[in-house]
Amino acid sequence: MAKVKTAFFCSDCGYESPKWVGKCPACGAWNTFTEEVIQRETSANSGFTNGNAGNFGTAQISANKPCLISDIVSETQPRIDTCDSELNRVLGGGLIPGSIILLGGEPGTGKSTLLLQIALQIKGKTVLYTSGEESEQQIHLRAERLGLTKAQCYILTETNISNIFLQAIEIKPDILIVDSIQTLYSDNIDSTSGSLSQIKECAAQLQRYAKGTGTAVFIIGHITKDGSLAGPKILEHVVDAVLLFEGDSNYEYRILRASKNRFGATGELGIYAMLSSGLRGVDNPSEILLSKRDEAASGTAIAATLEGLRPLMIEVQALVGKSTYAVPQRSATGFDLRRLNMLIAVLEKRCGFRLFGQDVFLNIAGGIKVNDPAIDLAVVAAILSSGKDVAFSCKNCFAAEVGLTGEIRPVQRVEQRIAEAEKLGFERIFISQYSSISSKCTDKTNINNNKTDSIEIIRIRNLFDLLKKLG
Ligand code: TYD
Ligand code: MG
Repeated sequence: MAKVKTAFFCSDCGYESPKWVGKCPACGAWNTFTEEVIQRETSANSGFTNGNAGNFGTAQISANKPCLISDIVSETQPRIDTCDSELNRVLGGGLIPGSIILLGGEPGTGKSTLLLQIALQIKGKTVLYTSGEESEQQIHLRAERLGLTKAQCYILTETNISNIFLQAIEIKPDILIVDSIQTLYSDNIDSTSGSLSQIKECAAQLQRYAKGTGTAVFIIGHITKDGSLAGPKILEHVVDAVLLFEGDSNYEYRILRASKNRFGATGELGIYAMLSSGLRGVDNPSEILLSKRDEAASGTAIAATLEGLRPLMIEVQALVGKSTYAVPQRSATGFDLRRLNMLIAVLEKRCGFRLFGQDVFLNIAGGIKVNDPAIDLAVVAAILSSGKDVAFSCKNCFAAEVGLTGEIRPVQRVEQRIAEAEKLGFERIFISQYSSISSKCTDKTNINNNKTDSIEIIRIRNLFDLLKKLG
């Protein structure tokens, strides 16, 4: 068997030690040492001595030679249609053979369900689905639940990576799915499965397999709530694409986004609904996320946000009430709490709107997390509406950022937001005075004159303007 040399490295500062130590002598961190393979010597390739670059005699003759970039003929590889329009979109038009994709997410979001569904749906391709988490019976039950059964999908319950490759070489799948990288182990390394070095080693072997055989490989990786598990993070540079599957498992909606993609844009977004019979792509997310309500209710405002490149109308709900505690409570679901505190401070200082002694609760309807700064104005409007107990018209929507001086700042792609709001029947959209609308959009509508066929564009400069316009 190959002789393997390992060492221990501090995962914080990279300090190397031949033995495991509890406290890093360099940075002082505790419990950060993990074992890594530093050299693997095989009998077939042992002559290339360290530090002797002149000894070419035993270097492998078949090593790749440099060639001019102009001499390289690029082959346009046909992408594999995954039969899932949301996944195809996020991947940039389909799956590239030989690519390696990491699907990360918290436990229970539906990663296994998504990939099993893809494995069973895909047409004309052989798929090998390996699982170290569930038994064959469990996977079969899940497939029955999804209502899909297909002969061309092989199921293997295995955690030893060499055994997986043995089976893969026999079956020659077009797509290999590994659920999950944390359960895999390689005999080359002593540490237990799920450790940093096992994850790195298994990912490197999977990458070599993908590139060597032209098989598309999906790897599932868990991320804990605080994102602290190093596993999927350190894999990011090994893989071609990193997809994140997000969503609260108590809610129906899930978002699939690419945080890295060598073969497409990273802005794209897939939206799914988790139903009792599996995941379904959502074509018109805005319509579903908005409450079906004709009358306006106090404390709600609609924000025209962008998730990736997709416009999305979401409902922001606020509840402001007298606090019974000495320190008032501030809580946000789906929105950054620090940003909420900042907006409350701006409201107090710049508008004289007293929130001291009041509890403020904020919720983004539908269990969606939003990072787009354009939601600020809707948050402020929802807080004002709840605080004054006045319902604003449900035909209003908002798309602007709020600055520390109370100024309303422009946001990107405002035309797209206006178009989405118009499509969904909103009558007024509040944007920044300084938003510039590109001429592309003016062909269809007369947006520069602040009027389109069906939506009125209200430009505001600061929070006072907002108060005046809302009445
Ligand atoms: P799972 O794919 O096991 O999550 P992960 O692999 O990310 O840990 O799915 C988790 C949840 O999805 C589970 O709580 C049950 C639910 N679910 C449905 O709601 N509908 C379905 O059709 C399936 C298969 C699962
Ligand atoms: Mg799973």
